[in-house]
Amino acid sequence: MRIDVLTIFPDYLNPLREALLGKAIEQERISVGVHDLRDFTHDVHRSVDDSPYGGGPGMVMKPQVWGEALDAVVGSDERLPRLVVPTPAGRPFTQDTARRWAEEPWLLFGCGRYEGIDQRVIDDAAERMPVEEVSIGDYVLVGGEAAALVMIEAVTRLLPGVLGNPLSAEQDSFSDGLLEGPCYTRPEVWRNHPVPDVLRSGNHAAVDRWRRDQALVRTARRRPDLLRGLPEGTLDAADRRL
Ligand code: ADE
Repeated sequence: MRIDVLTIFPDYLNPLREALLGKAIEQERISVGVHDLRDFTHDVHRSVDDSPYGGGPGMVMKPQVWGEALDAVVGSDERLPRLVVPTPAGRPFTQDTARRWAEEPWLLFGCGRYEGIDQRVIDDAAERMPVEEVSIGDYVLVGGEAAALVMIEAVTRLLPGVLGNPLSAEQDSFSDGLLEGPCYTRPEVWRNHPVPDVLRSGNHAAVDRWRRDQALVRTARRRPDLLRGLPEGTLDAADRRL
């Protein structure tokens, strides 16, 4: 998968070279290009923003700079990317979004700062390529860079060969619509807290049932909205007894 990021803070994306993502780059499972938006300005101040039409606080990112930058990044390939624009005004990014994007050959993240990017940039790009404006949660960040990092990590770990054990992705929170329950490792007793007996019983059916119950209880307590949203028939009789 090819991933490009357009930003006025290229160094903000340095964590992409770390840990799991760094390894995925090394193994050539992903190639990452980070591009400085200011390279596409033509004035001495390298300005990327201007005051908003209609008045109001804050600044808006200029369409000319974004237009040139997108043309330059997109123009270097005969394919077209899916353009992702992180914004608190976007549709929610979820595990389903990550799964869908993991099938894409090329993602291009356009990170805005200030009040946002002139809407015509998004409308114009949408005439040529798929575009999604997405939010990573109901809070406001200073810019799209941190959100892009979050989304790139969520997508990359789903790519074949990136996680050591592919079952990890399959058994994640959200993979079955529920939050994952608690997990334990050695020692058997730590600061007077024992590991639950059932996990040391060797009874695999009992362990599976216990894990499922823990996931159900945790989801009911922490995210009742997820439980209510489960498709019809997801819960069996044993689940409903809880
Ligand atoms: N930019 C600022 N806030 C954001 C959010 N919550 N999600 C995505 N991009 C953002």
